[in-house]
Amino acid sequence: MDRLSVTGGASLRGSVRVAGAKNSALKLMAATLLAPGCSVIRNVPRIRDCAVMAELLEHVGVRVELRGDTAELDATDVHGFEAPHELVGQIRASIVVLGPLLSRTGRARVSLPGGDEIGARPVELHVRGLERMGASVTSEHGFLVAEASALHGATITLDYPSVTATENLLLAAVLARGTTVIDNAAREPEIADLADFLVSMGAEVHGAGSSTVVIDGVDGLRAADHDAVPDRIEAGTWAAAAVATQGDVTVENARAEHLDLFLTKLEDAGADVARASGGGAGLRVRQHAPPRALDFVTLPYPGIATDFQPILLAMLSVADGTSIATENVFEERFTYVGELQRMGADIVVQGHHAVIRGVPRLSAAPVRAPDIRAGAALVIAALVADGVTEIEDVYHIDRGYEDFETKLIALGGEVRRDGGPVVIPDPAELG
Ligand code: EPU
Repeated sequence: MDRLSVTGGASLRGSVRVAGAKNSALKLMAATLLAPGCSVIRNVPRIRDCAVMAELLEHVGVRVELRGDTAELDATDVHGFEAPHELVGQIRASIVVLGPLLSRTGRARVSLPGGDEIGARPVELHVRGLERMGASVTSEHGFLVAEASALHGATITLDYPSVTATENLLLAAVLARGTTVIDNAAREPEIADLADFLVSMGAEVHGAGSSTVVIDGVDGLRAADHDAVPDRIEAGTWAAAAVATQGDVTVENARAEHLDLFLTKLEDAGADVARASGGGAGLRVRQHAPPRALDFVTLPYPGIATDFQPILLAMLSVADGTSIATENVFEERFTYVGELQRMGADIVVQGHHAVIRGVPRLSAAPVRAPDIRAGAALVIAALVADGVTEIEDVYHIDRGYEDFETKLIALGGEVRRDGGPVVIPDPAELG
């Protein structure tokens, strides 16, 4: 297993370009199941999760070519209908093949995702929605088995604006007979991106990105080309790292409008945030003093994303004053805090609240990355720690961030993988 060794003390400076959004690319790839022919998705991050999704789609008959940040997916011959446990266990996002597989082949057998380090990952909202559209769904031997000779439109009010439930139902509804209304839908930018792709394939989708999505089913879809939206969570990770290390980082390709509340929080922490004007992309974050303490609450979009919770906690560990974080989305998303405490962070967790008393510096310790975002948070903590922090289970970071340590090194971070030689990046490659 790879390990990162991060030497603390650097102040991050320079430019970094964010990749396409993982949580968009994975769903765009799944959407290609809906149309025969070869779809092309660009701006696909070169990360493990996308490679696993490619493997899953190949398993059911899609021919996939991943070249750089471009994925060509030929879904002319979809003959399989099963998402096996070995692949679903690696990425829980694979549940989003349930809707399109069912729609395309009339049946789907998808391993139940089960819980992970951030909490239980229930899927009853996906199931109830599909049932309302005429599917029969049962659970047997660890698999969800869905069947429908034809799906029909329905009005579905989600108990909670779940991201992947909204996406699964949207993907199932585009070829269903009649009109589907998804109420209390998730509003994340990746959902609007998925809808844009579906519309370019010939679907009729209205209101994606708002709480009510209306889908008028069509008879067929055609393959199409699409660029995935830039990754707002990666952008926010670099922005928070700039604040924590009192640096000056330009995040190219970031869409500031997808980070509105998050950037306001960084400004509360004392950051000077310049957003690209006139609808352009990119932002610059400068911090001249230790961050100031602040309180925040995670919520579905446009609230502060739960994915930012560990990243902000790492930043606030070295803030001037006491902060309070409230996690409202995943019930076990504070489990990594023990690792930050081992690095000297003064954090008390009570239920879904954490009280963070800032300390001037953290101290290096061996730690383990338990999931993607907590892994990135531990790297930020290591940057503001005295000494060399060794982070185990780096594969979690690789699941979600393209070229993470290469970008970090380009910004002046001192980091090695597995104790091997430091890779000096080609600036042309980093854009
Ligand atoms: N929930 C239910 N029942 C369901 C579905 C969800 O109770 O049927 C609950 C969950 O237990 C959780 C809450 O709803 O408490 C939110 O879950 P949601 O379904 O919105 O999350 P998700 O779709 O499983 C996506 C992202 C996560 C991100 C969350 C929240 C993907 C592949 N994953 O997960 O991203 O944290 O939305 O924004 O899109 C990551 O990128 O590292 C990551 C974990």
